[in-house]
Amino acid sequence: MFGKLNVIVVLTILTAVLHITHIQCNDNLRVAYQWKEIDFEYRSARDREEAINSKSFIQGHVVPVGLEVYQTRLFITLPRWKSGVPASLAYIDITDNVTSSPTLKPYPSWGAHQKGISGEPPEIVSPFRIRADRCGRLWVLDTGVDDILGETKRLSHTQLLVYDLHNDNLLRRYPFPADQTKNESFFANIAVEDGDCEDAYAYCGDLGAPGLVVYSWKSQESWRVNHHYFHPDPLAGNYTISGISFQWEDGLFGLALSKQQPDGFATLYFHPLSSTNEFSVSTKVLRNKTYSTSGDSFKEFKILGSRGLNGQSGAAFLDQLTGVIFYALPNLNAVACWKTSNREYTFKSQGRVYMSPVEMVFPNDVKVDDQDRLWVLSDNLQDLIFSELNRNRINFRILTAHVKDAIENTACDTTLAPLPDIINRLGDILRPQTTSAKSGASIMLNGYVCMLIGTILALTTLH
Ligand SMILES: *[C@@H]1O[C@H](CO)[C@@H](O)[C@H](O)[C@H]1NC(C)=O
Ligand SMILES: *[C@@H]1O[C@H](CO)[C@@H](O)[C@H](O)[C@H]1NC(C)=O
Ligand SMILES: *[C@@H]1O[C@H](CO)[C@@H](O)[C@H](O)[C@H]1NC(C)=O
Ligand SMILES: *[C@@H]1O[C@H](CO)[C@@H](O)[C@H](O)[C@H]1NC(C)=O
Repeated sequence: MFGKLNVIVVLTILTAVLHITHIQCNDNLRVAYQWKEIDFEYRSARDREEAINSKSFIQGHVVPVGLEVYQTRLFITLPRWKSGVPASLAYIDITDNVTSSPTLKPYPSWGAHQKGISGEPPEIVSPFRIRADRCGRLWVLDTGVDDILGETKRLSHTQLLVYDLHNDNLLRRYPFPADQTKNESFFANIAVEDGDCEDAYAYCGDLGAPGLVVYSWKSQESWRVNHHYFHPDPLAGNYTISGISFQWEDGLFGLALSKQQPDGFATLYFHPLSSTNEFSVSTKVLRNKTYSTSGDSFKEFKILGSRGLNGQSGAAFLDQLTGVIFYALPNLNAVACWKTSNREYTFKSQGRVYMSPVEMVFPNDVKVDDQDRLWVLSDNLQDLIFSELNRNRINFRILTAHVKDAIENTACDTTLAPLPDIINRLGDILRPQTTSAKSGASIMLNGYVCMLIGTILALTTLH
């Protein structure tokens, strides 16, 4: 009885191993856009030349970080890390396919990025991430800080700017109240709950002084929620990206909202950047101002599990159609996924979507648009921050694929039946024991997830 089972196990392992050598990982994304350097559409060549001469445009300081797609426009944020960023929010037209390195058009206009005559701050100072809701509004979470790595000048309060995407008019400007931000505050990520357009909520993550600011569109007010789970893990602060090693202690970062649950509320999945854990909380808690700001709600926050070694994750986004969360793994040059219907949250239940030390150096934003297309922005931010950009190579890429193709044959494939228990145990047997930083890292996604694909296919062949 036991002998027979062992034979089957060994056979399965063998078949799996044989398959591994032939199986290519999915990596089903294609590069839609790529740039060595970012350029803007100036009114004239002379304007551009003047901007370069006056150093209001320093091409080597412009790095795209956030992206969003709404209908035919692809929006990109270009934070003011250093001086010389002429516009910190811009877009390209995705129906215009004459070049894969298009020049960017400032959004909503050049004027919105320029200081007033008497030095008033520009309308938009320095947003990191943005969100277009299903109601045709673009939510811009503006840090308000200029020259972040240099003089770190705060030009305006952290603020929410909401634009009407039908005519690009500014619908609302909401500066965060002083008592909801702290000296170390830095707001880089936003999720918007838009089930009811008139009763929408924005969730804004503070990575610097870990916290969450919840904004109600209807009541035009916000409140700050604190929780231990928003804090960075002191043991997860090491990063190595493209050979550059550094330490970051960023708190609350990735925010991914589910669709409305039967109780009328969504689930917010979240993680600090310097952490390998994933957490969740119902927006029923967050939307209740008195409850969420009181200590009583502490127990409502759940821990899902850990992605394991080198599983620090940046931006995240949940595709409401499939219930799959896509997220960035900067230490692994990868974008991975997790199916929210999966009760297990471990390193094994994560799917590899795309991994490449060349085309996915530093994945910095992930979105799914209303046509089920996944979009990923990857850059060389580590070079800008710790070194300088190499102008002779491609520094920025936007990759895309249909969600269905991106998750095909991964642990997030919604057409695959749940893994039988034996496969999970096989995983334990096959799981490499080496845990040295870099090898562990590449094994995690490069080897393991593809290996898992191997076992699944092997099993199908056996049937
Ligand atoms: C560019 O777009 C046009 C019109 O949508 C289409 O006919 C053409 O095949 C596209 N070219 C490429 C290279 O995708
Ligand atoms: C915050 O910044 C203000 C102004 O720079 C300073 O006076 C204050 O001491 C700082 N508070 C903390 C807790 O660092
Ligand atoms: C982080 O990196 C430092 C310097 O390389 C090293 O001494 C330390 O052990 C690392 N910490 C962890 C938790 O890996
Ligand atoms: C807020 O939460 C408290 C505690 O669970 C509850 O008693 C109260 O009814 C809630 N308020 C709203 C408006 O849902």
